[in-house]
Amino acid sequence: MTVAKPLPHDAATLHVTGAARYVDDIPTPADTLHLAFGQSTIAHGTVTAMDLSAIRAAPDVVAVLIAEDLPGANDVSPSAHDEPLLATGEVHYVGQPLFIVIARSHLAARRAARMGKIVYDERAAILSLDDALAANNRFEDGPRIYRRGDPDHAMGLAAQTLGGAIEIGGQEHFYLEGQSALALPQEGGDMVVHSSSQHPTEIQHKVAEALNIPMHAVRVEVRRMGGGFGGKESQGNALAVACAVAAQKTGRPCKMRYDRDDDFMITGKRHDFRITYRAGLDDQGRIIALDLTQLCRCGWAQDLSLPVADRAMLHADNAYWLPNVRITSHRLKTNTQSATAFRGFGGPQGMVGIERVLDHIAHQLGQDPLETRRQNFYGATGNGLTTPYGMEVRDFILPDLIDRLVETSDYTARRAQIADWNADHPVLKKGIALTPVKFGISFTLTHLNQAGALVHIYQDGSVHLNHGGTEMGQGLFQKVAQVAADRFGLETSAIKITATDTGKVPNTSATAASSGSDLNGMAVKVACDTIRDRIAAHLAELHQTTPDQVQFADAQVIIGDHAIPWAEAVQTAYMARISLSATGFYKTPDIVWDRIKGQGRPFYYFAYGAAVTEVVIDTLTGENRILRTDILHDAGASLNPALDIGQVEGGYVQGAGWLTMEELVWDDKGALKTHAPSTYKIPACSDQPEIFNVALWDQANREETIYRSKAVGEPPLMLGISAFLALSDAIAACGPGYPALDAPATPERILDAVNRVRL
Ligand code: MTE
Ligand code: MOS
Repeated sequence: MTVAKPLPHDAATLHVTGAARYVDDIPTPADTLHLAFGQSTIAHGTVTAMDLSAIRAAPDVVAVLIAEDLPGANDVSPSAHDEPLLATGEVHYVGQPLFIVIARSHLAARRAARMGKIVYDERAAILSLDDALAANNRFEDGPRIYRRGDPDHAMGLAAQTLGGAIEIGGQEHFYLEGQSALALPQEGGDMVVHSSSQHPTEIQHKVAEALNIPMHAVRVEVRRMGGGFGGKESQGNALAVACAVAAQKTGRPCKMRYDRDDDFMITGKRHDFRITYRAGLDDQGRIIALDLTQLCRCGWAQDLSLPVADRAMLHADNAYWLPNVRITSHRLKTNTQSATAFRGFGGPQGMVGIERVLDHIAHQLGQDPLETRRQNFYGATGNGLTTPYGMEVRDFILPDLIDRLVETSDYTARRAQIADWNADHPVLKKGIALTPVKFGISFTLTHLNQAGALVHIYQDGSVHLNHGGTEMGQGLFQKVAQVAADRFGLETSAIKITATDTGKVPNTSATAASSGSDLNGMAVKVACDTIRDRIAAHLAELHQTTPDQVQFADAQVIIGDHAIPWAEAVQTAYMARISLSATGFYKTPDIVWDRIKGQGRPFYYFAYGAAVTEVVIDTLTGENRILRTDILHDAGASLNPALDIGQVEGGYVQGAGWLTMEELVWDDKGALKTHAPSTYKIPACSDQPEIFNVALWDQANREETIYRSKAVGEPPLMLGISAFLALSDAIAACGPGYPALDAPATPERILDAVNRVRL
């Protein structure tokens, strides 16, 4: 069976030899022009004058476009039409595009973009959560609140209570390939766009609106991204639209790529949060009341902030039964980059909140935090199995999964050893934490849970595969090719993986919410089975048998006791005028969700996992490192264990990076100061755990997903929470106080916390 094989990424060789083609590598016609944005240098105000004459006179500049020059809609928002491509007088953040420079080279465009003389009428900027809350500057009229039971009453009955707050910083996507697009004008006003985008259909939609032409006149192609991580769901719109508009104006191909600093300054990042909590416990340390408030910094435009904030609320329970709970979510508007999708889509922030609560409870009770977690799990003695939003947790495998991880990681003995070690070491301190993940799979916007595919078989038996998903390094194309190969009984070498193309599969959803293989794998299966059934029916008739007697395996078609090579079967079908091309379509069943009430079954199923991380800190400097990580992660019946383990490793490191070292700093004027790798530190190879044991849980998905696999793209990011809480554990070894560590736990914050707990 081709499915379940640990095959390498289909483009692995191309990646490591540098032959993989990204948008910037596509050979361009000689007359291609290059674009750069002129950006706002203030966070909030009105542009009163714009003198662009020096730009127009600059070497190699062909044209400059301002908002008034745009032929159609001036909007690149994925949601609320509140995000102009070019500012129309009002500016809302440092970095906001004001005008487009079109030049003969990338460098000439960037150089000239700085020569504008812009006069602003500057106004006070709202930058922080506190500023926004004080000014009641928010999306939606007021906070969104989900409630179950009576948390206030239950709090009054609690044997003890505790409260606190945690700040959780944002995160830059730092995809290795920056944002880029290339627009190629066609005859009759049509446009072809190559874009580094997770969402080709939205690029098509936005380009069509901007050019004032129907969607059928725009074709968007995406072969691959050098990473997206959610940062290319909506943030590529601006470049693609700018290129298309410039290409229409000039009649020449137009290309744009952000320099790394521009990428940092212009594009949205992970939402930073502050979560405050008050928990009421019974006499055994079980949570009987929880009041949780999530403050979410959304930036200047709505983008995807509402569903991100929703998902944070939907993961405020993580793995724990909360009988009486209030979750309040404030979606605050600030004069900063518009925060956007980032791996986990709000789920990670929600999960950090509740894991912090559990950690705090364990500290107050003097318990092993794993015990505190176990007794609060869904389905533990006395606990229910329904989430605060009314969804039944039907397959809560975490207790079993964690039992196995405790054993393989030797958690209990190591925890005792660490306590001994700490007693002997006054300067260095070790810490350990085991944290679970339960992550809901499906888009919460129900209609997005659909996908299409297009499969052709050529006369020689080779297969052309296309679907609506995009490849960003996660291995989606290989997994889906394995599905196609399996349906026809072929090796993946018989399957040609082709670029995502809005002309082949229309009306696609973003490749997001980890649903790429669930949705596109199924759609491809449907398309393949349609063709397979046609071939089977024809061959059955020829051999005077029934279609169920026809099987596809080992590059052969077996009809009863007769076997013919696949290519011959295809040729036979072709000669008999059987159609060898089909589309496939899939929609996720059984999901219903009312986001206003906060009730329903928003997710088809949950993906689970758990991690144990051991760290050491230097209490004199706050420096720290991860010594060992053990992970057991649930990918259902994995479509490809090699790729899935890669996703788990990468997700963990990205999650640990977010919570421990990646720090975004804005100055008091709203300018992002950390806009390059020199000042923004992502984990390097040397930051990965010295010992890193990753295994996949061995049970199939109980729901009928593609080959009973589970989505794996986002959930492992949240395993990184164990690194954060292991640091907290190490700090707690320094004194009696609770560390109340904020994220990212940089050396400075660790040092502060060490000094705090000693008092
Ligand atoms: N893995 C790599 N290598 N590069 C990426 O950009 N994006 C993540 C995850 N894993 C990403 C990745 C995000 S945010 C999502 S939603 C999923 O992959 C999307 O792909 P999938 O649905 O096919 O898992
Ligand atoms: Mo992923 S944040 O859903 O692109």
